Amino acid sequence: MDWDSFFTVHQDLPREGPGAPEDVAWVCELAGVAADAMVCDAGSGPGGDVAALLQAVPQGRVVAVDKYFGDAADARFADEPRARGISADFSDLEALPEAPFDLIWCAGALYFLGLDEGPKVMAKALKPGGVLAFSEPCFFVDNPSPEAVAFWEDYPTQSEPAIRSAVEAAGFEILGTRRVSDAGWEAYFQPMEARIAVLRPEADAKLTAMLDLCADEAAAWRAIKDQTGYLLVVARKSA
Ligand SMILES: C[S@@+](CC[C@H](N)C(=O)[O-])C[C@H]1O[C@@H](n2cnc3c(N)ncnc32)[C@H](O)[C@@H]1O
Repeated sequence: MDWDSFFTVHQDLPREGPGAPEDVAWVCELAGVAADAMVCDAGSGPGGDVAALLQAVPQGRVVAVDKYFGDAADARFADEPRARGISADFSDLEALPEAPFDLIWCAGALYFLGLDEGPKVMAKALKPGGVLAFSEPCFFVDNPSPEAVAFWEDYPTQSEPAIRSAVEAAGFEILGTRRVSDAGWEAYFQPMEARIAVLRPEADAKLTAMLDLCADEAAAWRAIKDQTGYLLVVARKSA
């Protein structure tokens, strides 16, 4: 991966993966998250979901943790005393002074740990009865096309029943699931495509290759979105 070109495209985007404020509101209502809850946005990117999380917990706090974009999230919410961002690894959330959490929100990032490990790692930083909400690559059809399989490259993407089983095996009760909407995907892709259009006229060969890769990702998703996408999973840790 040409990381310099990657960050040239991705720096300052409003979000780094699909999602929408409606997803946050749905999760918090379903889970009965308290108004004064302590929340972690794990793999927050630049904090695209932090405003919706703050709205869902009007007396609570939100810590946005991201390996590469935590500082950007912190700067974005510099005037908000109920939120902070840190650049850190989310496999050690229990070490944060705000832990344990009532809610860990993890949009499009748990898959970096994998379905076997991810829920167990997050459980360590949750209060008993705390809630993990995450969006996970999922096949929505029994026989996805080669294009749909290729979309996730080497990630062992699964069906909803298999995802549920893995989460339950980690000691969670599933409260509900739903697909991340097309609007959520477009909220990620459209600002990225606007950035690509600005960068392309002056791009050198390396950057052009990255612009093509990013543009291809959006086009590929639009072609296979009925077969695969993100499943939003809401699960309560055993008390
Ligand atoms: C697909 S993006 C989603 C970002 C954000 N949740 C959103 O929806 O805009 C995945 C994010 O996970 C972060 N990430 C990956 N592995 C991580 C780790 N081990 N610890 C913290 N952040 C990580 C990446 O930096 C990236 O911002």
